Amino acid sequence: MKILIKNIKQLVQTEEEPKLKVSGKEMKKLNCINDAWLAIEDDIIAGFGRMDDWEGISDWTNLTVIDATDKLVMPCYCDSHTHIVYAGSREGEFVDRINGLTYDEIFERGGGILNSAKKLHEATEEELVESALKRLNEIMMQGTGAVEIKSGYGLSTESELKMLRVIKKLKTLSPLTIKATFLGAHAIPTLYKNNKRAYIDLLINEMMPRIVEEQLADYCDIFCEQNYFTKEETIEILTAGKKHGMTPKVHAEQMSNSGGTLAGVEVGAISVDHLEYLGNAEISALQNSKTMPTILPGAAFFLSLPNPPARRMIDAGLAIAVASDYNPGSCPSGNMNFMMSVCCVQFKMTPEETINAATINSAYAMDLSKTHGSIAVGKKANVFITKEIPGYSFIPYSFGSNLVETVIINGKIMN
Ligand code: NIG
Ligand code: FE
Repeated sequence: MKILIKNIKQLVQTEEEPKLKVSGKEMKKLNCINDAWLAIEDDIIAGFGRMDDWEGISDWTNLTVIDATDKLVMPCYCDSHTHIVYAGSREGEFVDRINGLTYDEIFERGGGILNSAKKLHEATEEELVESALKRLNEIMMQGTGAVEIKSGYGLSTESELKMLRVIKKLKTLSPLTIKATFLGAHAIPTLYKNNKRAYIDLLINEMMPRIVEEQLADYCDIFCEQNYFTKEETIEILTAGKKHGMTPKVHAEQMSNSGGTLAGVEVGAISVDHLEYLGNAEISALQNSKTMPTILPGAAFFLSLPNPPARRMIDAGLAIAVASDYNPGSCPSGNMNFMMSVCCVQFKMTPEETINAATINSAYAMDLSKTHGSIAVGKKANVFITKEIPGYSFIPYSFGSNLVETVIINGKIMN
């Protein structure tokens, strides 16, 4: 099976010499080819270039030709942070927040993550697979080609394993590339309200060995925050996760400056995510690390949190990835086009920086930048074709519109 896309108005994020990530000033640069062609063979990008230099078609066997006149072709987005497996929804809490309750107050009343945990406990694996598949198809048609999915609404051995088995099943059912993360340390479940130590022991001594046994998770994550887990607990749990073969990730500095970033850098986290309360000490620590700072604009927007200091981070030479955080409580959307609009409008990132953050850097945040996140020969053929638009800046500019017309995942046209 081969696909040739020709007359592409702008082929975006091309790489002759693929990089694992782009940082600081480099983020301002986005390689594009105007009036381009792109060739796909099976599930791989086989070639690309300018129409002027195109040699034409010599072999028509099994070839689909797409004319992309006036349209753009981009690598699919990589969404390195989601909680896409969940039961029910939480629009009641959304209304409570409009009427003045805080996210913390809702949690204290047994809502928030605990509300989702209750709903998840009652749902069957089949129901969870079905609803998550719908969401995966939804984000795929909005341009996402690879996604990380967390557990964390289980909060008991049985339910955490149920969530992770659902994610494992999704890997076989969805065409998207999926990475799985164990987030048992998302909140302290009601049963352990007065005995956090016992819950941490359960995470480390009971859940982690079972997860390794069934090979259910690539990463281990934690919510490092007041009322959830401390910096010291973060280091302890992620270190144990590492011993069980799971690379660390952290929910860090979302509601306060709580030590999550420093803990993440210390244990060699692949990413630290959220970062609304990131300070200078954290920026310095990140400068000397391999950890990818990841911002989640949808959650900041939906919870009316302060903006993460994206400009300061980039100006300090850091890389930034952007992800959606798709979840029922703090971001009930996985639309990466919208996430990019918030990056530009609210965080003052340029479209070039934002597209780098949503493709190659978010691929890095889930160990996928060798195969995803840019148009490069030999990478996975995960690309989308836009509607007729003037150029890539039009995507974050047109917030709320879906400009994605055709999605190709692993060399297959999805619509
Ligand atoms: O990434 N911050 C913690 N966890 C999720 C929200 C979870 C929820 O409210 O259900 C987040 O924002
Ligand atoms: Fe999250």
